[in-house]
Amino acid sequence: MGHLHNRNIIIGVTGGIAAYKIAELTRLLRGDGAAVRIIMSRGAQAFITPLTLQSLSGHPIHTELLDETAEMGMGHIELARWADAFLVAPATADAVARLAAGRADDLLTTAALATPAPLFVAPAMNQQMWNNPATSANIQTLINRGVNIIGPGAGDQACGDVGPGRLTEPVDISAKINAHFPNRALEGKRVVITAGPTREPLDPVRYISNHSSGKMGFALAKAAAEAGAETILIAGPVMLSTPEGVTRLNVETAGQMHEACIEQIHKPTDVFIGSAAVADYRAEFSAPQKIKKVGDTLNLNLIRNPDIITEVAKSKHRPTVVVGFAAETEHLVEHAEAKRVAKGLDVVVANDVSRADIGFNSDANMVTWLDNIGREVIPLTTKQNLAKLLMMRCSKRLSPTSDNDEKMATQLEGDR
Ligand code: C5P
Repeated sequence: MGHLHNRNIIIGVTGGIAAYKIAELTRLLRGDGAAVRIIMSRGAQAFITPLTLQSLSGHPIHTELLDETAEMGMGHIELARWADAFLVAPATADAVARLAAGRADDLLTTAALATPAPLFVAPAMNQQMWNNPATSANIQTLINRGVNIIGPGAGDQACGDVGPGRLTEPVDISAKINAHFPNRALEGKRVVITAGPTREPLDPVRYISNHSSGKMGFALAKAAAEAGAETILIAGPVMLSTPEGVTRLNVETAGQMHEACIEQIHKPTDVFIGSAAVADYRAEFSAPQKIKKVGDTLNLNLIRNPDIITEVAKSKHRPTVVVGFAAETEHLVEHAEAKRVAKGLDVVVANDVSRADIGFNSDANMVTWLDNIGREVIPLTTKQNLAKLLMMRCSKRLSPTSDNDEKMATQLEGDR
């Protein structure tokens, strides 16, 4: 069951070039279980067709304030009351001004004024318009009134300018909406996560290791604990503090991590996530004293470490959902899917480590989720947001989805 299950969200779309991004946002919010209804201003309809958003939201688009047939279906006050969250995205400079002034001369502003739900506004406009003191004053008015302003981001703009005013990416808007609602989707569940590198000793002072920072695994543990799960984090040597509510077990070697994992899954476990970068090999013999430099070459005999996640997935104590990570430098999807099947995993989260801006040591990540149903790219976002999304997806796998969700997933898979 998605985190936004039983939540009603209105998106008010106004006329900006970024209106097309609402297609993706609608898909993400529905994927989290929300019911989404969309109000489009006249300007918005020049940028994206109501039919597109109708198909994706699964509901007719609301456009007119004084429309008899619409009022007979769901009137504007009823619509405003229906919402648990009301989001205006993209919000043009004009929309921001009209919301700040409390106007009610079209359906969008009337519903925004009439809703008891919290209001979120994601502005998108030319950087000069955003920096104009008139817009700043309007934004300040909205903030003073308790409105949640999302973004805007900065960067290249459709008009050729560079600066602040880009619509925040849909995945990040969706994370803000998710964060607003208390999330206890993993209440009563047990989650075991591995994180960080392992260290394989060569002698008392040297070891073989890798650059894994552990950030992704720690973010996952934080998200799991926040969602109510009993969370065990089996961590290799990293300089990160333990997230609140997480039980941390520190290990050094792959052998110790292996032992800790096998011991942990003896207790019935719902989700196991292997995000650790486990060393594949260790020195056959770790020298009891510091190795002296004697010759021009030194041969080390390395032997294979156990594949922890494979053993977990094939164990008679197998957790319900087993998720692995795959860092690939080429043929991302093919290699990751082969790994999923070979290791007996339910899900593989694949990332392209040939890119310096994502993965290993960075704070952001862009991954592909692969499971038995298909695959989906989760666009670039922070590891914290990504962790929340991944934990929500795991919780959905634990509670079978409703028919409608299933149908939607199939339809979207087909659309892609
Ligand atoms: O085979 P590869 O190392 O690419 O697989 C990555 C996945 O397998 C990750 O989920 C990682 O945590 C897990 N793994 C493991 N034990 C190993 C090697 C990898 O659990 N010895």
